[in-house]
Amino acid sequence: MECFEVTGGTALTGRVRVTGAKNSALKLMAAALLAAGRTTIDEVPDILDVAIMSEVLRRLGCDVTYERHAVGGGGRLVVDVPDRPGTETDYDLVRRMRASISVLGPLVARCGSARVALPGGDAIGSRGLDMHISGLERLGATIESEHGFLVATAPRLEGTSIWLDFPSVGATENLVMAAVLAEGTTVIDNAAREPEIVDLCAMLTAMGAQIDGAGTSTITVDGVPGLQPVTYTTVPDRIVAGTWAIGAVMTRGDVVIERAVADHLTVALAKLSDAGAQVEPLPDGLRVAMDGRPRGVDVVTLPYPGFPTDLQPMAVALAAVSTGTALITENVFEGRFMFVNELVRLGASVRTDGHHAVVRGRERLSSAPVLATDIRAGAGLVLAGLVSDGVTEVQDVHHVDRGYPDFVEQLRGLGARIERVQRPD
Ligand code: UD1
Repeated sequence: MECFEVTGGTALTGRVRVTGAKNSALKLMAAALLAAGRTTIDEVPDILDVAIMSEVLRRLGCDVTYERHAVGGGGRLVVDVPDRPGTETDYDLVRRMRASISVLGPLVARCGSARVALPGGDAIGSRGLDMHISGLERLGATIESEHGFLVATAPRLEGTSIWLDFPSVGATENLVMAAVLAEGTTVIDNAAREPEIVDLCAMLTAMGAQIDGAGTSTITVDGVPGLQPVTYTTVPDRIVAGTWAIGAVMTRGDVVIERAVADHLTVALAKLSDAGAQVEPLPDGLRVAMDGRPRGVDVVTLPYPGFPTDLQPMAVALAAVSTGTALITENVFEGRFMFVNELVRLGASVRTDGHHAVVRGRERLSSAPVLATDIRAGAGLVLAGLVSDGVTEVQDVHHVDRGYPDFVEQLRGLGARIERVQRPD
């Protein structure tokens, strides 16, 4: 088992560079399936999930190569897509990474059929697929569930109007990727507005798709007969940037986050200002500095442009060492407070009730062995370890490696005392 040993007590200071967003790069890789030939995607983070998505594409007959850049944790990925890709994605891959289901839309659109394993539950909630399925059905696909697979068939897709009950990121992406090759016009209402959706639509547009309204709640897609491969650069990762920003505030440090886009973190940065931090947008990044102890601030997670659910564990960790009491409300994933029990092991005063957590701030936390339950919970626990007395051992860090390239190296570059160690299982 791999663990992080985090020694508390040092402030994060210096410069760190963020590469492309995991939650965009994985979808851009799926979008490559929409055109035969060689698509190049730059600033793809060197993380396990990208390796898993590469394997998904290889099993569909693509040739995938990855060349890492010298600095920044990103690299250039080349996907060579055959004229007739395969149509099946197995449970062993979907189980390891839920985002594998984003090949569903492109495969149905391009090949007229797809068999993709059902992902099942995961550590942050039940995560339904109903909107992916009903949207594809409205576009003309027939979808059945058999032996743990979603089986979709659609000799042709036809443009339609789709209303999403919730602005789901994954459903919006799958439906846009199906609609780009449908006949006629598709209008998706109550669509997700995340920067990663805008990024996907920008790449699809560069490939020849006709898309209007990306970044708003109504996306209109005029289907085209075919798309061409392109060269495209992934949008910077706002969740990684937000993690370093919150870490700077918690440790009372001073960090320049190169390539961070302040406009993609408006609510989160406003919360950090409310906590007393100095937040300064720079031409190519962002500076966050903190003097003294932060003030507790209430946080409510919501679809973009609301406070991101992926930064909620870091917000709870911040409140745990702030003055006063903060109310954190989780509205996106019902299981996302599971990690709170681990934070309590570090001496945090947190009570949860349904989708609310009441956090009473303490001056410092107290080190203990804790378990990373998912990517973001793991990152939140490491930040908590940085403000704990003694050495905190964060276990099961393979979760963190799924979302943060060079996590230990980047933190060490900012002065943190953190080591990756092997422990017997
Ligand atoms: C993506 C991100 C994840 C982020 C989330 C919200 C990836 C790989 N993951 O996840 O990191 O936390 O967006 O910004 O990009 N839902 C349904 N039915 C559906 C679809 C979704 O009930 O058909 C529900 C989910 O259970 C969840 C909520 O909608 O409660 C949000 O899900 P969604 O926005 O789809 O998130 P993901 O795309 O899974």
